[in-house]
Amino acid sequence: LTLENHAIVLVKRPQGTPTEDCFALVQVQAPEVQTGQVKLRSRYLSVDPYMRARMNEAAHGGRTPFDIGKPLSGGVVAEVVESNSSDLATGDVVLGMLPWQEYSVTNVKSRQKVNSYGQPLSMALGTLGMPGLTAYFGLLDIGQPKAGETVVISGAAGAVGNVVGQIAKLKECRVVGIAGSDAKTDFLKKELHFDSAINYHTAKDLSKAVADTCPDGLNIYFDNVGGVVSDAVLLHLAQHARIPVCGQISQYNLEKPEMGPRVAPFLLRSHAMMQGFLQSEYSHRFAEALPQLAAWVKEGKLKNVETVADGLAATPAAFIGLFHGKNLGKQVVKVA
Ligand SMILES: NC(=O)c1ccc[n+]([C@@H]2O[C@H](COP(=O)([O-])OP(=O)(O)OC[C@H]3O[C@@H](n4cnc5c(N)ncnc54)[C@H](OP(=O)(O)O)[C@@H]3O)[C@@H](O)[C@H]2O)c1
Repeated sequence: LTLENHAIVLVKRPQGTPTEDCFALVQVQAPEVQTGQVKLRSRYLSVDPYMRARMNEAAHGGRTPFDIGKPLSGGVVAEVVESNSSDLATGDVVLGMLPWQEYSVTNVKSRQKVNSYGQPLSMALGTLGMPGLTAYFGLLDIGQPKAGETVVISGAAGAVGNVVGQIAKLKECRVVGIAGSDAKTDFLKKELHFDSAINYHTAKDLSKAVADTCPDGLNIYFDNVGGVVSDAVLLHLAQHARIPVCGQISQYNLEKPEMGPRVAPFLLRSHAMMQGFLQSEYSHRFAEALPQLAAWVKEGKLKNVETVADGLAATPAAFIGLFHGKNLGKQVVKVA
């Protein structure tokens, strides 16, 4: 079976914000399927902010850098089109860390089969996948929301943020989202029923905007972005506030770390708790979270928000778009 096959490779390491010339669409071979292996056809692939760090020569946090000239990789939902494995059959759909490639040959296992819970497959990369799990554990485990509390979310219209806000509403919290356009803040209020939303690009005084929407301070700050947005929010912590630090996307393209106010006095005065986390540390509890997320989706309590780019060739632009706020909800690429 010879198939035309393409991949997206890293041509050079981005300096600052990634640009299209860092990537190229190339033709690659799909090797023969050896014993124990399967040939996969990529259906949907995920572009994620964390991938930016892997594009640097020295990726931090124990992540291996992507190789120049080699296909990038990440979360991919793929269908088995040829099987030489007793573990998987043609037609099975799996989720794996796979190359940005139309077809690939690997030894994925049956435990990687996607349970789509009757929902579209793309959701396994979003609300019913890694970003949804991040929102679930970051908010519920670290944030510990209680009815009536005020929850502020940065990056609120993104993959993780929109789920955090919707779960916080289910927990009867007052939810304030911070996002980068009026279209996004309108969406959060009208479609996802956030109580308030702030456009951080147009707010004249972001700290005042937060104070105005949170007159009694905020109990939880779910931080996806860091930088000046967090500087403004952290001024308004209520007593015993919790701050799950999920991401710092505003910092990922900087050559030098940005200096900000020292936060320890705010934490001290408000007896607040700030905790960084990675969703992977909760992997032993994914089996508890996914059925709950799926149940909320099925009951219409958790809306799926996603932006779908069309075709493998659109992947670099979809990835770069994350740093320009092009996406609403989870950004995926439909490969086939
Ligand atoms: N801890 C974990 O395990 C974990 C897991 C998944 C993701 N994360 C982190 O969580 C954050 C959100 O990830 P995601 O996958 O849900 O991405 P996302 O929010 O869907 O996409 C990124 C969004 O970030 C916003 N943004 C980009 N540059 C910004 C800047 N300079 N300042 C403020 N906002 C900026 C943009 O929205 P606007 O239009 O609003 O600017 C953009 O849409 C990221 O920091 C990511 O690294 C952490």
